[in-house]
Amino acid sequence: MNWKVPLTDVTVGEEEIQAATNVLRSGWLTQGERVAAFESAFAEALGVRHAVAVTNGTAALHLAYAVAGLGPEDEFIVPALTFAATMNAGIYLGARPVLADCASEDDLTISVEDVVRKITPKTRVIVPMAYGGFCPDLARLRDLARDLGIVLIEDAAHAPLARLDGRAVGSFGLAGCFSFFGNKNMTTGEGGLIVTDDEAVAGRLGRLRSHGMSSVAWDRHAKHAAGYDISALGYNYRLDEMRAAVGLEQLKKLPEATRRRSDAAALLRVGIERLGIEGLSVPFTHPRGESVHHIFAILLPEGTDRFHFRRELAADGVQTSMHYPLLHRFAYSREIFARGGSEGLPVAESIENRLVTLPMGPHLDRDKIDLVVKSVGRVLSDA
Ligand SMILES: Cc1ncc(COP(=O)(O)O)c(C=O)c1O
Repeated sequence: MNWKVPLTDVTVGEEEIQAATNVLRSGWLTQGERVAAFESAFAEALGVRHAVAVTNGTAALHLAYAVAGLGPEDEFIVPALTFAATMNAGIYLGARPVLADCASEDDLTISVEDVVRKITPKTRVIVPMAYGGFCPDLARLRDLARDLGIVLIEDAAHAPLARLDGRAVGSFGLAGCFSFFGNKNMTTGEGGLIVTDDEAVAGRLGRLRSHGMSSVAWDRHAKHAAGYDISALGYNYRLDEMRAAVGLEQLKKLPEATRRRSDAAALLRVGIERLGIEGLSVPFTHPRGESVHHIFAILLPEGTDRFHFRRELAADGVQTSMHYPLLHRFAYSREIFARGGSEGLPVAESIENRLVTLPMGPHLDRDKIDLVVKSVGRVLSDA
């Protein structure tokens, strides 16, 4: 389908092509100097001490949870409204997911009150996710976790460069996890990264991503090391040099791309609010901190046939999506939650069939925004 307004757009220019080509010509393709440069640049952009690049956002979460000591018998609290990977990475370690509700119909990030209700002596990790690039109540969650001796790990996949109270999203807990999947605000195709201010944690993350080895092939090639020991059971979650080179170029473009997203989000919000359709709402009317507008979610009026709505927008050339089915609604997870963990989610369950994601990205010019708004208005006024 040739969309007039695609949901997202990958904006890769000559700079990325040249950077990846240079790596391919250099003779060193696996984790080396480009990865180290990408890590330094990302850490600097966020104002954190350490960054560890990995193969994808799921691997980032898996390693962060492992370093937090999450394991069998433990519980970890995740939002009911997030991508499956936030939960899956903890299940890999044998831990039990417990779902927390959205804060409200306006603030779709995790409810701190519900997190408090769901903490038990077995809770080891709490994982806020910056839904759509919007900041959860990270300061309160950080204080809560600290007071109770629980580890805070951020799923910041939607939110590179988002900030709250002068700090980067991703920097409030022990570690923050990013994804550079193809539809993210910046992309390396596949890719991920963990930030932390803790040097020992960064060291462990760095070893775990490469089989638990004390040196990688690049260190031996560059004569920094002659051999290696393996200190712990690790994984192969290394990022390669081509992706790191692309990531460096994408990172340079991220501030401008974020400004464009922000402008587009403001226009789209005003356009939709001006339609004056009863029951139609755009969440995050009073966002915390600085959002980076990863996705643009709306809530349809109660009783709207969402499939009809999305089909009609598609007929106008407007691509839509749905972020996300709640974590306890999947065939595989229903079995997991049969033992509990998905109780008390009134807000998430009241919005799950009304959520629709409209197009968002630096590609949205005024004409595209007008088309989206007109299409939404046409379909809901006819309803
Ligand atoms: C909120 C969230 N968490 C985790 C991930 C996992 O990232 P990846 O696809 O890079 O493994 C994604 C994206 O896909 C995501 O949107």
